[in-house]
Amino acid sequence: MQSVIVTGAAGFIGSHLTERLLAAGHRVLAVDSLTPYYDREIKLANVADLVQREGLTWRETSLLELPPRDLVAADAVFHLAAQPGVRPSWGVDSFRTYLEENVTATHRLLEILRSAGSTAPFVFASSSSVYGEIGADGVTEDHPLRPESPYGVTKLASERLVRVYGSRFGLSTVCLRFFTVYGPRQRPDMAMHRFLFSALTGAPVPFFGDGEQQRDFTFVGDVVEAIIRSGQEADALRGDVFNVGGGFPTSLKEVVDIVENLTGQPLNLDRQAAPAGDVRRTAADISRSTRALGWRPTTTLQDGLAQQLRVVQERVDAGLYRLEQLAG
Ligand code: NAD
Ligand code: UGA
Repeated sequence: MQSVIVTGAAGFIGSHLTERLLAAGHRVLAVDSLTPYYDREIKLANVADLVQREGLTWRETSLLELPPRDLVAADAVFHLAAQPGVRPSWGVDSFRTYLEENVTATHRLLEILRSAGSTAPFVFASSSSVYGEIGADGVTEDHPLRPESPYGVTKLASERLVRVYGSRFGLSTVCLRFFTVYGPRQRPDMAMHRFLFSALTGAPVPFFGDGEQQRDFTFVGDVVEAIIRSGQEADALRGDVFNVGGGFPTSLKEVVDIVENLTGQPLNLDRQAAPAGDVRRTAADISRSTRALGWRPTTTLQDGLAQQLRVVQERVDAGLYRLEQLAG
């Protein structure tokens, strides 16, 4: 049994990771500042069951203020906290937040660990958005990095900081590039959540561009498996970076068809121009992850969306998911 930290533990992916770590018998310090990117009550609901469990310590605080001793005491650090979202990252005030929550916060964690001479595994949640526009094939980790959004630039800057601190000061770092993650508790600004909500309530849903854009959608349970394997292998993997992608790039139009079939309801699409920063396609080559981590995704889009649908329905019924969360 180990004592680990999860940053961003009340978020979508962080709450699943925390749940899995507790189930495996680890003690988890769950840190989250409940930023206003989306409703605080959704984040609190994500961890409502977990905070009751033996082994979990809940800390509502920013990483910019987390006491260094908390970090240094951990046997492993899973750093998922961030200001997410590609499309809202433009604008002077907005970018300031992305810089602070993503780059400055990550830098502070690395500085604390360096000062303490830490060798604990440090797993960083990076993003497919570091690649930008790609060609017809799945990208390997060595593909040129040309982010198309300010968000992607902050994830790339953070990733580079993680790698510099790893190579220069001997930290056991691993960067994982997640590709559009979906599943129960998905963030309310993301496409799948909005499509399912729209199908259940009849509310209009923004549909950006021509719908031919593709994403290599990845189920959250598969992502958590990759995170845990990276934590276990971090010492051997030191400094490496891995794609974590679902394996079947799918167009937005196809997602609409699947949601309509699953729910039996037509979507009320509010067609809008493609926003700046939205790339045409993401697609991961996961051979490195399979080779080094023994990881490959196992959840089909149909199964994963069916699991997400059940939770969206429960939370719509409970009044937690509401129409105003679809704005923007
Ligand atoms: P999320 O917004 O649900 O979770 C992130 C959490 O971090 C939030 O609960 C937020 O309150 C917290 N947080 C932000 N800044 C903080 C700070 N300074 N101190 C403490 N807590 C802070 O997002 P998510 O979708 O679960 O994403 C988790 C991570 O994975 C992020 O780093 C994101 O960039 C990355 N990622 C997500 C996806 C995806 O498709 N969801 C894809 C690629 C990468
Ligand atoms: C997602 C996450 O939101 C980012 O945090 C993450 O870094 C990124 O994946 C990644 O893979 O790195 P995105 O691919 O834009 O970003 O995921 P969605 O928000 O689910 O959007 C998918 C597609 O649906 C986009 O083309 C978007 O324009 C479209 N969309 C989204 C809509 O048509 N309507 C909506 O209401 C929301």
